[in-house]
Amino acid sequence: MPRKIFVTTALPYANGPFHIGHIMEYIQADIWVRFQRMQGHELFFVGADDAHGAPIMLKAESEGITPQQLVARIAADRPRYLKGFHIGFDHWWSTDSPENTELSQEIYRRLKAAGLIYQKSVEQFFDAVKGMFLPDRYIKGECPVCHSKDQNGDSCEVCGSVYAPTDLINPYSTLSGSKPELRSSEHFFFRLSDPRCVGFLKEWLSTPQRLQPSVANKAREWLSGSGEQALSDWDISRDAPYFGIPIPDAPGKYFYVWLDAPIGYLASLKSYFEAGGPRTRGERRSFEEFLGAPDTEQVHFIGKDIIYFHTLFWPAMLKFAGAPFRIPDHVYVHGFITVSGEKMSKSRGTGISPLRYLDVGMNAEWLRYYIAAKLNGNVEDIDFNPEDFTLRVNSDLVGKYVNIASRAAAFISRQFGGTLRYAGDTAALAEEARTLAATVAECYAAREFGRAIREVMAYADRINQGFDARQPWVLAKDPARAAELQDVCSRALYGFKVLSVLLAPVLPQVASRVARELLGLDADFRWADALVLPTQIRPYKHLMTRVEAKQLDALFDAPAAPAAAAVPKPAAAKPATAAAEVISIDEFKRIDLRVARIAAAEFVPGSDKLLKVTVDLGTETRTVFAGIKGAYTPEQLVGRLTVIVANLAPRKMKVGTSEGMVLAASGEAPGLYLLSPDSGATPGMRIS
Ligand code: MSP
Ligand code: ZN
Repeated sequence: MPRKIFVTTALPYANGPFHIGHIMEYIQADIWVRFQRMQGHELFFVGADDAHGAPIMLKAESEGITPQQLVARIAADRPRYLKGFHIGFDHWWSTDSPENTELSQEIYRRLKAAGLIYQKSVEQFFDAVKGMFLPDRYIKGECPVCHSKDQNGDSCEVCGSVYAPTDLINPYSTLSGSKPELRSSEHFFFRLSDPRCVGFLKEWLSTPQRLQPSVANKAREWLSGSGEQALSDWDISRDAPYFGIPIPDAPGKYFYVWLDAPIGYLASLKSYFEAGGPRTRGERRSFEEFLGAPDTEQVHFIGKDIIYFHTLFWPAMLKFAGAPFRIPDHVYVHGFITVSGEKMSKSRGTGISPLRYLDVGMNAEWLRYYIAAKLNGNVEDIDFNPEDFTLRVNSDLVGKYVNIASRAAAFISRQFGGTLRYAGDTAALAEEARTLAATVAECYAAREFGRAIREVMAYADRINQGFDARQPWVLAKDPARAAELQDVCSRALYGFKVLSVLLAPVLPQVASRVARELLGLDADFRWADALVLPTQIRPYKHLMTRVEAKQLDALFDAPAAPAAAAVPKPAAAKPATAAAEVISIDEFKRIDLRVARIAAAEFVPGSDKLLKVTVDLGTETRTVFAGIKGAYTPEQLVGRLTVIVANLAPRKMKVGTSEGMVLAASGEAPGLYLLSPDSGATPGMRIS
């Protein structure tokens, strides 16, 4: 019986583009989904943007746009990444959607009816200038223990003490700089500590095979904590102004973003069903019927930082919301990806920009292969190391796998018109493939992708050795040994087919080309195809190139700064962080820096660096040519505030006259970042 599985990946915050960590998660899930489909199972694989919350609201405000506009801008960019890395989501949706509003409010009502919601007054810092309650991350002050200044609201970076924001000495709001006041407000809580929840979760966490053992242990620890570590109820409400879903019958109250975020998984599936997508896969049932069916499985892929939400709150919410909602069957957790051993920051991403990876012409399947080779079923971090990457792609993927086809196919096409013929017994051949396919299938199912790749590559070694041992290049010179030559090459090509089938979840594009172009099949591979010996091939067409060092250089290189490109580089370039010469305040004052709103932006025909930007200075508009095309699209710019040098002498350029300069930051790492003022600034304000 085919399994019916609903699969998700964590919903990325919609305040920035994908980083390599997101792409890694999608690659892991996509490989698993493709593998299951090749086995004949039915999967619905959906994602969505996590749109709500204070950071998104504030970011939009600082750019002078609505949160909806910000989210739409980010969403518009998603397909380039997903297509580019062959991530086959069936549907991509948003938590800021009618489906999610409806589902979140419905689930809330049911939890309330079950007696699991209560109200309590909470004292919290309030920024009277901004007119809003402050999330902890926007409060700083002096550490109550070591008295270091400017420490975060939850812990001190200097002495490591952990405390509450109300413990800070001289706290201030990072949004307005003002001193926050304590105010109280009614909050809604989900009673996670209710014996029904705890009892249910104990059982859910202990179901064999549901979770990785380390994940289940961690969650059980949280569940049975006592004293300071005791399980707390969950504050699920936030006060206006907040970008979120209104709580029914509670004016001015919104669901905390983490309440509606996982419900976004269901909203995306619902939207997919309502768009008719599943019908194309033969699914006739409604969203509710599918979700509520006893044989449906629900599987979530997530990273290690969000285990708490997915193994405690989420299953409990679903359980007590009742049918058709179902409890998750599996939550599969992965570690983090680092680049050359360096952690990436959540805001800046890491040394690898996924778009830049594609833009410099690197092959998405190299990265899929590399990540697969490094992943296992445990919660372990993996590292992207450029040397290791080059080695694995060039010597394993191209050297061992692709080369088999290019070598063997040449003989078959040239000397045998494309016909394969196997001499003698092929039973052992098929038997070896059967055993291998079974082992590799177990690895994929258990997300032991690294082991799958090792098994597959060991087989590639055997194919290559068998081929070389019989010296086909010698056989080719002796017409009397043609049958032998045909046999050697046929066996090698069968081996290549087996490899292609087993690697298809990782290399969907190459595998599809092998199936259709080389073997002339009219469909992509299914797992069972590994056992079918091919009898005919078409002429081999090149499948994959090697990684070149210069591509990796380009990947890690900052995009050339536009102005610097024209200026010859000094012999010993100063590091970007070196301080410039000292100037007086009067000299600084000669520079007229102004806040400007980008009113329009467009591409400049024939230029791969420049964008033509129209800036509004409050009293006038100017045209500025800015070398920021590598980092921004015109749509990303329109409406946002930035900083310009307003008294720069106009500069005649080939494409027109530039009447000012837009300010942007760049360093040794790739990336170019436009400046923007804090919210509240308006066009024309002077910067001093
Ligand atoms: N919006 C929440 C998730 C809500 S799910 C209902 C969130 N978003 S996120 O954008 O910060 O992270 C999305 C996913 O990316 C998470 O699973 C997270 O663990 C994963 N990763 C973030 N950085 C990562 C790495 N460096 N490496 C691998 N995955 C990483 O959390
Ligand atoms: Zn301290």
